[in-house]
Amino acid sequence: MSLEKTVRRSFDRLYGTAPSVVVRAPGRVNLIGEHTDYNDGFVLPMAIDRAAWIALRPRTDSEVHVHSLDFDETVTFSLNNLEKSNSKWAEYIKGVAWVLRERGRLLTGWDGVVAGDVPIGAGLSSSAALELATARAFASISPIAWDAAEMARIGQQAENEWVGVSCGIMDQMISAAGQAGHALLIDCRSLETQLVPLPPGTAVVVLDTATRRGLVGSAYNERRAQCEAAAQHFGVKALRDVSLAEFEARAGELDAVARRRARHVISENARTLRAAEAMRQGDATELGRLMDASHISLRDDFEVSNDALNTIVECAQREESCYGARMTGAGFGGCAVALVQGDAAETFAARVAADYLQHSGLNASVYVCQATDGASVV
Ligand code: GLA
Repeated sequence: MSLEKTVRRSFDRLYGTAPSVVVRAPGRVNLIGEHTDYNDGFVLPMAIDRAAWIALRPRTDSEVHVHSLDFDETVTFSLNNLEKSNSKWAEYIKGVAWVLRERGRLLTGWDGVVAGDVPIGAGLSSSAALELATARAFASISPIAWDAAEMARIGQQAENEWVGVSCGIMDQMISAAGQAGHALLIDCRSLETQLVPLPPGTAVVVLDTATRRGLVGSAYNERRAQCEAAAQHFGVKALRDVSLAEFEARAGELDAVARRRARHVISENARTLRAAEAMRQGDATELGRLMDASHISLRDDFEVSNDALNTIVECAQREESCYGARMTGAGFGGCAVALVQGDAAETFAARVAADYLQHSGLNASVYVCQATDGASVV
């Protein structure tokens, strides 16, 4: 049964009536442009066919009553008195409500059921999906116009200030603004977006290593601080403002670690712009080459890969049908992404899973992904 049907039926069972609205917002996979968003740079993600879904009906008061099918838990709170609790999933919903209220929006309460099929903690942005589904839910029953970039900022602020994770804007922006069949080139400074078609005859495959790293938060914050320090050294607002030529001319002024971090971000921005160009020309070979180069840069210069990610990327790259592969998302575990020949995608997925099992002893989850629309009312 589709998740849409599941949330509709559960809503009916719990509240004795049909929902008035059903919304969904997708997870994402990033094709290229990693750890560039918080450097005001470029990213090239696509929204995937896995999403958070909410079936809801407005209430006449300011309360939200929401049941999570995945956690089998109901949480109730008042929009007039938002308080943090230790319910993991509901904090994303409350956080978005809190930011909307902070921004002076009038909110209507609702009864709802939530469910999702973005795997949690795998680096496919299940939290951004839930944030944007929540924003969509409030916007569908309150006097709030839907502006994708603004809603993405609201989701990011909820994550930064309510949940306490200092992420960039990429995940929320692609969940808000994705388009079926396309990746989105996002300028993370202006939030301008350009639709970029997937090269004809290719498929995007997500390879989940089945490894997770708990310390990702502190390592992520450390990378952010190192990037900010390097930008300061160059006398610019963000590393986005440093060209490759300028970096090369002055690289000797930085210590070895700062040099590697900056080199990753600056070269990754350039690769991302080239990747978008390659996609516009339908050049899967060039896109794949850039993805391979991105992985090396993340592994050796930014140092956010792990053994499992390196192994699965090598397994993918060994396949003849593979144009290129790299780790995707924050790193230290989670998923890799591969660009492969469309008609070979299923065989590729099975072969890589078997090869990875042999090399690592771990069972990978493999998804052949479709690029979908961002947050929507269905
Ligand atoms: C996480 C963050 C994003 C981005 C990526 C790395 O997914 O949420 O904002 O920084 O890591 O590219």
